Amino acid sequence: MTTSTVVDTTPSTTPSPFGSPPEALPEANRRIQMPRFELGERFTREQLDFLDTYGFIRFRGFLPKASVRKLVEEVEAIDRLLIETERTIVNGVPLIIGKKKDGTKYVQRMVFSSLLGDRLHRFLQDPRFQGILEVAGPGYRIAERERDGLVVNHFRHEEGSSYSRLGWHTDSLRDLAYLEKPRRYLNVGFYLDDSPITKGGVRVIPFSQNQGIWPMLTRKRYFQDVAADPEEYAIEAEAGDLTIHDGRIWHRVALATAMGEASRRRVMYMPLMEGPLKVKSATSATPFYFRLKKLARL
Ligand SMILES: [Fe+2]
Repeated sequence: MTTSTVVDTTPSTTPSPFGSPPEALPEANRRIQMPRFELGERFTREQLDFLDTYGFIRFRGFLPKASVRKLVEEVEAIDRLLIETERTIVNGVPLIIGKKKDGTKYVQRMVFSSLLGDRLHRFLQDPRFQGILEVAGPGYRIAERERDGLVVNHFRHEEGSSYSRLGWHTDSLRDLAYLEKPRRYLNVGFYLDDSPITKGGVRVIPFSQNQGIWPMLTRKRYFQDVAADPEEYAIEAEAGDLTIHDGRIWHRVALATAMGEASRRRVMYMPLMEGPLKVKSATSATPFYFRLKKLARL
């Protein structure tokens, strides 16, 4: 651990890209200073150390804003098409649908997104994901057609929203259910919108990836507990940033204090898988993709 470069105990140096006042950020944001990391083809030693030590990391400007806007356009086109065609399931996985104040429906959890849009598919071919896969562990792949594929979460805080926060959890319950030692699984998020503290956003409990099985089961009530934790760290991010957190860490998505449009927060989660291929039925994906291309003129 390179404590000399990553830990800063001086409160006045709180790094917030939005100028969020230090008093609005949790204590841990003052104790842990994350350098401005950028991701190349491979992780640097310092980046690996940061992720291993704290259980999370943020890379600035993984894509420039103009490229993010192109991806957002495509996500919005897919969203419109899913709503217009009244799709509620993709490859057997249900979508989460919400309603805006004006009654417009929209998709709050989109799955297999890269099968529905060419730009998203090409995004996943970025060579820097190979570097992430290496860090994830041997045998990991980008699994566009497995589990939920590329997920796009769309959080909004307003009446009609089905997805405005998520309670505390780790992603290791499945391992525990099989009585296996929880394995490290990397949650890789790519931000389509800025996510300042006013939008709520991801909170993590640093170092908790190292906890034993008992605290992993009992420190919080899974998904029920939503209150701030005295140890939590708030991950703020800008559109185009990429974040990674260890799935064994306690994490939640906090409710925005902003409402409506100002609370909109869209983050894509990369589908990382290992082990035998478990491709989901694609019977509806191909014709759907062509229909989408036609409708959205992508
Ligand atoms: Fe999670």
